[in-house]
Formats: sequence, structure tokens, C-alpha cells
Amino acid sequence: MIGLIVGSGFNDFPLEQSRTQVIDTAYGEAEVVIGLLDNTRVASIYRHGADHRYAPHMVPSRAQIAALKELCVKAVIATATVGGLSADNEPGHLTVPDQIIDYTSGRENTFWDAAHPTPIHVDFTEPFDAKVREALLEAGKEAKVYLFNRGTYACTQGPRLETAAEIRRLIMDGCDMVGMTAMPEAGLAREAGLPYALLCGSVNWGAGLADKALDFEQIQLVMQQVAGHMKNVIIPAIHALDQ
Ligand code: HPA
Repeated sequence: MIGLIVGSGFNDFPLEQSRTQVIDTAYGEAEVVIGLLDNTRVASIYRHGADHRYAPHMVPSRAQIAALKELCVKAVIATATVGGLSADNEPGHLTVPDQIIDYTSGRENTFWDAAHPTPIHVDFTEPFDAKVREALLEAGKEAKVYLFNRGTYACTQGPRLETAAEIRRLIMDGCDMVGMTAMPEAGLAREAGLPYALLCGSVNWGAGLADKALDFEQIQLVMQQVAGHMKNVIIPAIHALDQ
């Protein structure tokens, strides 16, 4: 079984014979849709909840990753919409990032706490799994969707968007795209020992980088288009990972 965490832009991800299961983990409940994609079993989670009730800083990432671990998924593909900070990430472009910087604060960012004292320091030099990244990149070729093969994802706290100065700082830090949801998710996946990679779609330029003010209607339109391309990539990637 392959795990899938879908972010903004996805109102549904078509699985056959699907059923929704609430998994009661040691870190809270997570709702998982389990079904088939052709013959591959998929456990899919709407990161923001089916009714989009979790804002980025409220996503129950520990419960979501713990649920995928309990289901013994072989690998996890996650999607995220982002603001573009570099030329390769102009709105509409898709990237498989290879690095991440965590700018969030106050989120439950580890499974290691007083109730669950599991003293482990995990290696996070390469935050994304090489095989899952490769499956996404190959799937992009197969689906004829261009995917940029590197980039540093900046994870900000949100839910507000950034100031122009914050965006300039992220660029000086070497970030290529900015989103609000990949952390602590990616770190928790590493703690859980789950191979995890991220497929990002740029839906706007970072604040202050475009001449015009952010246009939320336009962002919604680009998000739909990006989600369509992501779906075309995810399907063959899931099949490849299940081999
Ligand atoms: N900033 C942070 N998160 C985002 C953005 C952005 O500009 N666009 C989509 N997610």
C-alpha cells in the first residue's frame, strides 16, 4: 500500500472501492481514504481535512503520519502548493524539491515527547527519499509533465502570507519556493521511517515579486490547473512505487 497526502487544490482523488477509515493513533485521530488505483492499494489523506477544516498551522501531522505508519504504507507521496521564489518556480510550474528549511514555530514537530519518550535523533541531511523522488521524476517524464528536479522549500508558519521583506530573506537563504505545510510532516515521516517525497506546484509568485498584488481568484485557477498536472504524475508514480 502507498500513502498519499494531498494538499490544497485537491477536492477529491479518485480511488476505486474506497472507504473512509478513522484511525485512532497515539497522537490523535486521522481520517484516511483507503481504496484502489487500478490494482494498487492507496491510503490517502486530505492534509487539510475533507472539509478543509485544518489551517496550515493546525494540520494534525503527527496523527496523519502515525496513521500511515500503522497502515504499513511502503512510501508516501505528498503534494503542496507553493509560492515561487526562483525562475524555475513561476506559477504553473511543478518541482520535486530536494531540500527544506523549517521556519515554523509552535507546531508539534516530533513523535518524541513526555508521553512517548523515544529518544531518537534522525538523520535529516537529505530530507526527501531518493527513491520516491525518482519515482515522481520518472512519472513526470511518462506523463509528459515537466518537473523541475531540485529546489529548497521554505516552510513558513502562516496562515498569513509573507511580507515582501520575509520573501527577500527566504531568497537570500537560498529558498526556491515557499509553503506552509511540509513541516513538521516531512520530519515526522523521517522519524517514523517512512520514505517520503514532496511534489510542489507553484500557484503564485512570493509576496512582492510580481508587479501586481496577490490575486486570490487567479491563485484558485492556477491551483486547479496544477492539481490536474499533479494527478497525472502521482498515478504512475504510485504504480512504480508499488512494484
Ligand atoms: N506563501 C506561503 N504559502 C503558499 C504561498 C505563498 O506565497 N502560495 C501557496 N502557498
